[in-house]
This record gives sequence, C-alpha cells and structure tokens, in this order.
Amino acid sequence: MSAVTDKIKEICQDLILSDEKIVQVRDLMNKEINKGLGRETNPQAKIKCFPTYVRQLPNGKETGKFLALDLGGTNFRVLLIELAGGIAHSKMVSKIFAVPNDIMVGPGEQLFDHIAQCLSVFMHEHGVQNEKIPLGFTFSFPCRQEGLTKGVLVTWTKGFSCSNVEGKDVVSMLNDAIRRRGDVEIDVLAVLNDTTGTLMSCAYKNPECRIGLIIGTGTNACYVEKLDKVGTWDGDFSEPQQVVINLEWGAFGDDGCLDFIFTEYDRDVDTNSINVGKQVFEKMISGMYMGELAGLALRRLCREGLLFNGKGSERFNERGSFHTKYISEIEGEKNGEMVNCQAILDELGVTGYTDEDCRHVRYVCELVSRRAAALVCAGLACLLNRIGEKHAVVAVDGSVYRYHPAFHNLMTAGISKLIDPGLGFDLMLSEDGSGRGAALVAAVAARVTAEKAE
Ligand code: GLC
Repeated sequence: MSAVTDKIKEICQDLILSDEKIVQVRDLMNKEINKGLGRETNPQAKIKCFPTYVRQLPNGKETGKFLALDLGGTNFRVLLIELAGGIAHSKMVSKIFAVPNDIMVGPGEQLFDHIAQCLSVFMHEHGVQNEKIPLGFTFSFPCRQEGLTKGVLVTWTKGFSCSNVEGKDVVSMLNDAIRRRGDVEIDVLAVLNDTTGTLMSCAYKNPECRIGLIIGTGTNACYVEKLDKVGTWDGDFSEPQQVVINLEWGAFGDDGCLDFIFTEYDRDVDTNSINVGKQVFEKMISGMYMGELAGLALRRLCREGLLFNGKGSERFNERGSFHTKYISEIEGEKNGEMVNCQAILDELGVTGYTDEDCRHVRYVCELVSRRAAALVCAGLACLLNRIGEKHAVVAVDGSVYRYHPAFHNLMTAGISKLIDPGLGFDLMLSEDGSGRGAALVAAVAARVTAEKAE
C-alpha cells in the first residue's frame, strides 16, 4: 500500500479488518446459514437461504433454442441462445435495454410492460415472433420460490422499489404483461437468481462447480446443499438429493450482528439509502456502494485538512460523486503512476492537489476494496468449509470482480487463509452467467421432463 501519514492511517483505522474479525464474520455467517436452513429458525434468519428448485447441474449435453431475460441491475437484457451440447457450439445474440429510473421506482405493472415490450421488439428483430420458445427469467432479487416457475419477490434491493410487486409471483406478472400486449407468446420454464445462472454456466464446463457468486451492483452467493441439511425443503427427496440454495447473503447483518465492524461511513451509506437497515453486508461490499464509502472517507479527510489542503470542490463534496469505477481505475495504475487519479480529481473539479494527495486517495480506495474482498472471502470460506470437498470451483461474475484489478488475487489469498486444511478451490470467471445460465436452467428442466416421460 502507498505511504501515508500517521494521521491519515489513524483516521482510516476503522476500515481495516483484523484477521480475528474476519474469522468472526466467517463463523457468524455459518451460524446464520444454519438458521436460514432450519425450518423453525428460518423466520428469524436474515440470510434467507431460499431453495431454488434447481437440483440438477448441466451435463454439457443440453441442446435447443431458448430465450432469456436478465433483470437485476441498471440494465435489462434479452437473449436468444442456441445450446448445441457443449459451450463451444453454443450461439447467442442479445440486446441491452436501459431501465430508466422512473421505471425502477414506478408502478410494478409499468416495469413488466417495459420488459414485455423489450422482449417483443427483440423477438421481432430476430424474426422469432411467431415461435413459442422456452424462456428462462433471471430475476436477481430475493424471491421465495415455490417451484422452478414461481418466484415471489420478498423485498426489492439495489435501488429498485416498484410498487405492487413485493409479495407477488414475478412469473405471473411477466405472463400477464405479455398477454396484455398479445403480439408474442412465451413459455416460462424457469425463474432464477443471477447467482444460480452463474453457477450453472460454469457447471456446464466444469463439473466441480459448487458455488455461484456475484460481486456487481449487489452481492450474493448460491451453493449446492444436501437435501437433508435443508430443513425448509418441501419438495421431493428423489435423486440427486441436493438443491441449489440462493443465500441472499446481502442481508447478512440486518439484525445488527455485524455492528462490531461498522464504521461511520457504513452508517452514512445506510441512512441515505432507500432501504435503511437492509442489505447491510451488501452495502459494505458491492459496486452500488463502494465508491460512496471511499468518497465519504475522502471527504472527511478533506474536511480535516488532510487532503487537498482542506479545499475540495462542490462536485467532490456531492453525495455519490465518487464512482466505484474510480476505485478500479486508481488501483489499476502501476509503478506509482497517477494519471488516472489526476484525471478523476480533475473531473471532480479538485484543483491544486499534490502527488501526496493522490497517494492518499489511492490508500483510501485500497482500504475500501480490501475490506470488501475480505468480507467476500469470509463468506466464501464459510461455504467451502460447509461443502467440504477436496476441490471445488467457485463461479464468479459481476462488475467489481471483473474490473477491479486486485479483487481476484485478494480473494484467492484471503480464502486460502480461512478454509479448513485439506480443502482446495478455484475461482472461475463465469461468461455471461445470467444469460446463458437462464437458458441452461430452462434446458435442464426440459431435459429432466423429457427423461421422465421416456
Ligand atoms: C442483490 C439481490 C440478489 C442478487 C444480488 C447480485 O443482493 O438481492 O438477488 O443476487 O444483488 O445481483
């Protein structure tokens, strides 16, 4: 880490997690998962551990043409995927549609009408408007599933707050919106979380894959659990006796159990969010909040006269002005270069900064991203220990993992220190999990139905 003055170190001390605290977080997460999986304890649990009804992983032989919808961040995507038995032979075309802010926080019906409209536009563009193609719907919010094709939204996360969707089945809402249009037909075979999609798309290539992880706008993980450990399971116990559990670990700490690592910056981010007191773990880690955490710490240093000679700028002082991508850009600079940092400070209207200021800005970014990585490591180590396999693959996706220059290495080193002796793992970047994964869940469902009919 860059050299910084003792005074700055002292002020930023709270952002540094000791090894003991990280171990504590890992162990607390394990307790919380047990609580989430227990039938009696689940109502009090903050990590909800939703069974996804995905039981079979792909075997690489899935084939067919599928549509996929992917909603969960700032963009919405529609995809047309042709699986041809093996990743190398699959084809995919997709289109990104923006989700305007007024739709993110408007009436639920309007959101689903928007989705249906984008889907119809896409199907017409690709000349498949008269076909009834099986569809997988990646809907990356906490859903209580009651089967592969029924997902009831429990609560919005990541800045969404459409009315009249919480407590409703999002597949019915999608079907209703499509019926309202009447110009295309679809057949929804599965609704899934992006973590499940990520796991499936890696499992297609690598049979050792057991965990799906997202570190993007939000953060969450899923993993393959044995049915006898899932007290809340109400499906059948046929083979394989396992099910993918969508943890929704973003809500870890919502009962105050992580207050011992909370900082003034975390409190500030939470108080100013649209879901106060919720998604505590997510707010310490994911891309929607990381930039602001760094921004808050930087603004404090400036106020105390330790940065920019005490003189920031109007823009710099604005909430939300320090974007998460700045952290990746600043930390991506090698050999003491600071061109990116200077460009960012210029963009923020800060003038008269020194090289030392740039080193201090980088230091704060590093503290925030290292803490985020350490917390993810605590969670992953907990899962790897639960799974207990000699070697397991973790499928990972999300903008923070993809674009932050050190995240992968920080994670590999951090997890190694926290897993039980004799266990091993690999982190594997998932290529478009939420798209391809949706097609795969639909394809596996179709394959299993066909096998049963034989
Ligand atoms: C939020 C959502 C969760 C999703 C994650 C990553 O935590 O609640 O469902 O998996 O973001 O996109």
